[in-house]
Amino acid sequence: MEEELCITTLEERDLNDLMGELVSVYQHAYATLPEYGYHSPQRIEGYIRWLWRGDPQGFFVAFLGERIVGFVGVHATWWEDGELFGEVHEFVVDPAFQGKGVGSALFGRALEYLTKRGRERVGLWVGEKNEGAMQFYLKRGFQKTIQYGKWVRMVKEVEIPVSPRDFGEAPLFRRNKR
Ligand code: ACO
Repeated sequence: MEEELCITTLEERDLNDLMGELVSVYQHAYATLPEYGYHSPQRIEGYIRWLWRGDPQGFFVAFLGERIVGFVGVHATWWEDGELFGEVHEFVVDPAFQGKGVGSALFGRALEYLTKRGRERVGLWVGEKNEGAMQFYLKRGFQKTIQYGKWVRMVKEVEIPVSPRDFGEAPLFRRNKR
């Protein structure tokens, strides 16, 4: 990739400005996995807003130049069956840019954020036939736990490298200052 990859969080007004692009990246990423994604642009937009609102600092967007090539949405405080998780709710990379390390960079930022928020356990649900994503998670130390319908739960125990108090504000996206 010639242009530098930039990963950043968004303020709400930037989320609004960029919503069309975010919806489009999501649609492209799930084009070959229709059983695991939402379809209507309105539903996808509502979902992206829900992701952002649940933890604005856990919504990371990857830019190559001015173009959005992927995003990951995590919530640092998520209760699942009475247990506290850092939850990876959504993770997509535009297919034209997959296999080039964009996903690894995004996911690394998200995990760093969750550990800095003090989470010792990270969880996610992935489609049972989504082999690509499952391989991605297995390579990064996640293990399959339970299955609920077509969804497989994967969990990773993480080491906390620094005190949660050391965590500062993530840099925010500024359209004119990148
Ligand atoms: N077949 C095999 N492995 C795959 C595939 C595939 N089709 N797709 C991704 N991978 C895995 C491999 O482990 C590969 O490892 P390698 O580096 O040894 O080749 C790795 O992903 C590629 O790493 P990156 O290039 O850093 O990741 P990429 O930019 O391709 O993004 C992502 C990975 C986000 C899973 C992307 O493939 C994608 O958008 N998939 C469609 C949407 C999706 O399934 N999202 C996850 C849903 S689960 C959830 O959101 C909690």
